[in-house]
Amino acid sequence: MIRQATSLDAARLADIHITSWQAAYADLLPAEFLDGMSAERERRTEQWQGWLSTDSSQRSILVAVDGEEVVGFAHTGPSGDKDLNEVGELYAMYLDPSRYRQGWGSQLLEAVSEDLRRSGFTTASLWVMTDNTNARAFYEQAGWAADGKVTEMCLGVDIPAVRYQRAL
Ligand SMILES: CC(C)(COP(=O)(O)OP(=O)(O)OC[C@H]1O[C@@H](n2cnc3c(N)ncnc32)[C@H](O)[C@@H]1OP(=O)(O)O)[C@@H](O)C(=O)NCCC(=O)NCCS
Repeated sequence: MIRQATSLDAARLADIHITSWQAAYADLLPAEFLDGMSAERERRTEQWQGWLSTDSSQRSILVAVDGEEVVGFAHTGPSGDKDLNEVGELYAMYLDPSRYRQGWGSQLLEAVSEDLRRSGFTTASLWVMTDNTNARAFYEQAGWAADGKVTEMCLGVDIPAVRYQRAL
């Protein structure tokens, strides 16, 4: 099941964010950076609480739920890119590492598209690390395509990223 997140989910969102980065990016980011994330649970929980308590008609945090357990999330809202107008963005999407490749991401991504459409967007964008071949394959099979825009994300070291877009 997919539902909107509530402030009660904040700590779980922080946990999933941290453990999913540590599992999925072990070959992409410095070990020191990833290990350091374990100490950030409290700060990240507060950050999620802040986002969850901010009223915004266009921002949304969706969670995938298996029984009682939140197994993943997607965070969406208006694109922050200066060259994109009226485009919705998938800011982040992470699953608990024990749930990869079981269809949860596809369910979430479908709900993301519906949610962005409901918010009035007809196009969506996202940024993904250039070397994150797993996520790129996931987005591409769902109809997303690289639009040629690239950037460097500063995560202790500069990490190249590519932008994808998709008509909703
Ligand atoms: C990327 C992610 C959200 C995908 O969700 P998921 O539930 O694992 O993906 P699904 O099971 O719905 O996969 C659907 C299809 O996408 C493709 N796909 C998904 N993961 C893939 C992988 N690791 N390698 C290649 N193709 C993949 C496949 O075509 C898959 O269909 P199949 O399993 O029948 O072959 C999830 O794996 C995740 O959280 N990964 C780590 C974090 C991350 O990279 N997030 C994206 C940041 S931009």
